[in-house]
Amino acid sequence: MDVAAADHLLTTTRSVRKRLDVSRPVDPAVIERCIEIALQAPTGSNAQGWSFVVVTDAAKRKGLAGLYKRAFGLYAGNTEMRPQYSADDLRAQQMPRVLDSATWLATHLHEIPVHVIPCIEGRIENAGPLAQASVYGSILPAAWSFMLALRPRGLGTAWTTLHLMFEQEAAAILGLPATVTQAALLPVAHVKGSDFKPAKRLPARRLTHWNTWGTHR
Ligand SMILES: Cc1cc2nc3c(=O)[nH]c(=O)nc-3n(C[C@H](O)[C@H](O)[C@H](O)COP(=O)(O)O)c2cc1C
Repeated sequence: MDVAAADHLLTTTRSVRKRLDVSRPVDPAVIERCIEIALQAPTGSNAQGWSFVVVTDAAKRKGLAGLYKRAFGLYAGNTEMRPQYSADDLRAQQMPRVLDSATWLATHLHEIPVHVIPCIEGRIENAGPLAQASVYGSILPAAWSFMLALRPRGLGTAWTTLHLMFEQEAAAILGLPATVTQAALLPVAHVKGSDFKPAKRLPARRLTHWNTWGTHR
């Protein structure tokens, strides 16, 4: 395996919002291929209770985007819904750019040609930590693989969850059975340009604990 190519893919797959090309249609066969790749991810007990709902219908995308926009308005207008950092923290410095990009997405989501909703069988409202980790852990790796698979095909997306503030309304639009949990909403489109770079993140050493919490190398 080409380590440099794999590292490049893993370190430069960004949340793409403003650079999603709303004017170019997406080939359904490419979406199907990326889902096929995603299904190589692990699932708890090899249960494979996953599903990907692919929405191209304009009225349904408009419905989902309406829910998303309402949720984004509540999120953006309420600082208590977002983690707060001191002014010198890297994450505080990145926040204005992320919010600007996220605002664009909230305004244009209905125009993005494909919305993909990764779903998993099971509900965890009343479940303990093992069941919660197992249910979400059985769809999130596949969803991220799907995002990675889009990248070399010239497509991009951003992980989003805000529409889940109105989860039941979204489930009605999608015709989901009551036993199914939505994990995200991935707006997919061709990407303008390809010069993505690694993001600035908190240092790995600070976040790596050797043998006991708080022991760093
Ligand atoms: C669980 C989760 C939920 C997220 N929800 C949203 C969302 O609703 N809307 C959005 O625009 N971005 C959302 N994001 C994307 C993050 O804002 C994004 O990953 C972060 O800004 C870092 O940018 P990068 O992925 O380009 O490094 C979410 C990411 C995760 C992991």
